[in-house]
Amino acid sequence: MSKRILLTGAQGQLGSELRRRVSMMPIPYELLPTDQADLDISDMSQVESAITAFKPDVIINAAAYTAVDKAETEPDVAFAVNAKGPENLAKVAADADIHLIHISTDYVFNGQHCTPWKVNDPVEPINVYGESKLAGEQAIQRYHPDALIIRTAWVYSRYGNNFVKTMIELMNARSELGVISDQIGTPTHAGRLAEICLSAVDHPSCKGLYHWTDAGVASWYDFAQAVYEIGSSLGLINNYCQLNAITTADYPTPAQRPSFSVMDCQQSRRDFGFARHWREQLNMMLQELQGGSGSE
Ligand SMILES: NC(=O)c1ccc[n+]([C@@H]2O[C@H](COP(=O)([O-])OP(=O)(O)OC[C@H]3O[C@@H](n4cnc5c(N)ncnc54)[C@H](OP(=O)(O)O)[C@@H]3O)[C@@H](O)[C@H]2O)c1
Repeated sequence: MSKRILLTGAQGQLGSELRRRVSMMPIPYELLPTDQADLDISDMSQVESAITAFKPDVIINAAAYTAVDKAETEPDVAFAVNAKGPENLAKVAADADIHLIHISTDYVFNGQHCTPWKVNDPVEPINVYGESKLAGEQAIQRYHPDALIIRTAWVYSRYGNNFVKTMIELMNARSELGVISDQIGTPTHAGRLAEICLSAVDHPSCKGLYHWTDAGVASWYDFAQAVYEIGSSLGLINNYCQLNAITTADYPTPAQRPSFSVMDCQQSRRDFGFARHWREQLNMMLQELQGGSGSE
């Protein structure tokens, strides 16, 4: 019998990639895609009704409040979605013996490291978004210890708004652009992350904390340079734009960001599948954009 998956945040980057992959799978999953308009995860009564009505085998929580800078002035909203939401899902899923797959972030770490963060390294978020996501992880661990939590980082996709699409727009409009070179992490394509979530659906014995990013390491400047090079070769960027490496201090933002958030993903590679280098994934995503399928 096909597995029934309740997906939250279905219109987001990860949610959209999940919907697309499920529609292409040879194994038929029965997917109920929901977004805030039909299932607000911060509302316990909506969570209870949706789960009772659909009776999923698995819930994938791709819903989140992801506006990192805005969260500094909207902590209540960030906590309602990123902490209360996962708590609601965890309570109802645990009671009904439903597997829960939840996505968290590298921003639970303070960035004061120079080797990849391991899953059990101490957490110490340095912004409200990170605090709210950590509270979500803790609620899940408390109410549904068998749930799977996958921390990821620097997510982009052909869907939604993200760094890659913003860079292409700016590079087409400007002759010069400063990009931060002293924050180091790993760009991660939401499409491959979606495949990892589906692999996890089929491995319900994998639980607890995992890290998943694409392979490799980059600064935002490296990432932007790759967008420029590949984007230009594909005709997505038709303008000379000089990229200048700048520091975090040169570009103050409301939220602080970790300076080093590369994560150790060894366990997830073993349990869920291989990773491509972030530049290869970026190339694939830009080719999709060039093919004209990036307007959603
Ligand atoms: N983006 C990144 O760089 C990044 C990095 C590390 C970790 N992550 C994590 O990865 C996961 C997926 O991120 P993403 O980039 O796909 O996020 P996204 O594109 O911002 O999508 C999040 C989705 O959640 C929905 N949502 C917001 N509040 C909701 C609520 N109360 N109830 C139900 N749905 C709600 C949003 O709807 P609206 O658009 O209507 O608000 C949106 O469709 C999240 O857990 C995020 O924290 C992301």
